[in-house]
Amino acid sequence: MVTIKSAREIDAMRKAGALAAKCLAEMLKLVKPGVSPLAIDRACNEWTLAAGAIPAPLNYHGFPGNLCISVNDVVCHGIPDKRAFKKGDLVNLDVTPILSGFHGDTNATVVVGAQGAAKESEILPEVRRLIETARLSMWEGIRQVRPGATLGDLGHAIQTFVEKAGFSVVAEYCGHGIGRGFHEDPVVPHLGRPGQGLKLREGMTFTIEPMVNMGKRDIYVEDDNWTVRTRDGSLSAQFEHTLLVTANGVEVLTLGEGEVI
Ligand code: MF3
Ligand code: CO
Ligand code: CO
Repeated sequence: MVTIKSAREIDAMRKAGALAAKCLAEMLKLVKPGVSPLAIDRACNEWTLAAGAIPAPLNYHGFPGNLCISVNDVVCHGIPDKRAFKKGDLVNLDVTPILSGFHGDTNATVVVGAQGAAKESEILPEVRRLIETARLSMWEGIRQVRPGATLGDLGHAIQTFVEKAGFSVVAEYCGHGIGRGFHEDPVVPHLGRPGQGLKLREGMTFTIEPMVNMGKRDIYVEDDNWTVRTRDGSLSAQFEHTLLVTANGVEVLTLGEGEVI
């Protein structure tokens, strides 16, 4: 069932979203060559608890981490392990704190060792283009969000943008309603046709989180039952925001400080 959030619930979602944005920014600062995903996992646990929140991923359907860390060809749901990051690795951090019972869910992808304007030029142009396509496809979806728009409008905008860039969108994993629950209705596909699917209404809260592969869209799940990888071994990038449908458009609940489209 798709729920419409009350004013009080929206207020709580704003606070959870703001905390998620801060958590993501703090964890991204730790991504450097030689640092392990497990170190970030521990930092995420400590940071979240110190902020008076709970890391939702931990033990969620048995997930063994405080956040998802997805490296290179890992599409999503990467389990933090002790294998240190190397310069040039493509790393996605996906954090979801629960604050006062409400979830904020956001993720971003960076290249290890590329932080700072000077070093950004060292990123392979095709990798940079993959990251920017994933990020901007999310914003193409967000731009569609308003009362009366349909989920198909969002999916179509994302899919069209990604395919024009020559990349592919993963079909099996989707955005989702969010609130007291981590994954609520509706399912929010990142592909679709204009005018199809659920009509958005003011007060709905959900995520958009397209996974964009450099090669084919096909994926498989590893034997650990979590780690999702591209079948062809190509790189995959993802960005995620938690959104609120407002009277005349959209509010991005997990917007980062100084984040620009
Ligand atoms: N944060 C992911 C999402 O965006 C879900 C991770 S589920 C977990 O929906 F169990 F792997 F944490
Ligand atoms: Co999500
Ligand atoms: Co997430």
